[in-house]
Amino acid sequence: MTPVFGKSFSPNEVHFTMDDCETRPEPKKVLLCKPDYFDITDVKNVHMTNKKGTVNKDKAQIQWDNLHTSYLQFKNQKLLDEVFVIDGIEGLEDMVFCANQSFPWVMWNNEKIAIMSRMKHEARQHEIPYIEDFYKDLGYRIVDIQSKYHFEGMGDLIPHPTKRLAYGGYGFRTDKNVYEEIARILDAPIITLELVDENYYHLDTCFLPLNHTEVMIAPNAFSHESLELIKRMFEGVYEIPEGEAMDGFACNAHIIYDLAKNKQAAIVQRSNPVSLNILQQNTAIVLETDTSEFMKSGGSVFCMKMMVY
Ligand code: ARG
Repeated sequence: MTPVFGKSFSPNEVHFTMDDCETRPEPKKVLLCKPDYFDITDVKNVHMTNKKGTVNKDKAQIQWDNLHTSYLQFKNQKLLDEVFVIDGIEGLEDMVFCANQSFPWVMWNNEKIAIMSRMKHEARQHEIPYIEDFYKDLGYRIVDIQSKYHFEGMGDLIPHPTKRLAYGGYGFRTDKNVYEEIARILDAPIITLELVDENYYHLDTCFLPLNHTEVMIAPNAFSHESLELIKRMFEGVYEIPEGEAMDGFACNAHIIYDLAKNKQAAIVQRSNPVSLNILQQNTAIVLETDTSEFMKSGGSVFCMKMMVY
């Protein structure tokens, strides 16, 4: 049965498979935000507990530079078309996590849209105008959410690779109810997934599609129903051990999707051997990196970039 486009579905309402969904081109440009003002000044998630003032700024800069260099390398290898970098803003200490302020999409008629987030923490809401300016320069249509609900962009809403289908995490930062409006805007189905463990406060901390049919997850992150749904949607579900998923942010790796395995590339936090092995089986080039300073703030590679059209 073909899904009703523009609707959000709870796990028990899903009556389609991803093969019923239309194809979507993958974005091939990446956006990064400089870490000049990155810091930990409060506790927005459980990883930040007792971390206030502990960021080693020099180390964070070096780690970010290495990440930036990896993306430039991908560009040289023609795995990416462009690497955009915007400046951080003084006082916006979390802006470096540029997966969170927006959700870009390409419509049926090739129009590029960016849905702007409504961040749960007031302090982070001030990041939005700067990200909006970036999209305007790229010719995007900016879409603001009309309902009153919270939404944290690509941190919680993750597209199914190459498909007009997305998974919407909720429970900590994003409100489930926002997905009804967002599904209408995208004109695509959204499957909502309930997050139940505060260590996995964003969907991108516990859910990483590897390709069209396989996914890496932190099983404890999900409600029973949501976990069952993931197992129904994906043929291969890799359950990542807690030491890698929670402490090592392994599911927060970034994969640049391509239908051809030899054109697919990934970057993952180092010292996650089980996850590295899984990634290597499916992705031609897998780079390891160290994001330990940023992990103190609850984010790793996936959080530190945005893929855009
Ligand atoms: N300190 C940031 C926050 O709590 C980290 C965001 C990490 N981003 C992510 N996509 N998980 O908002």
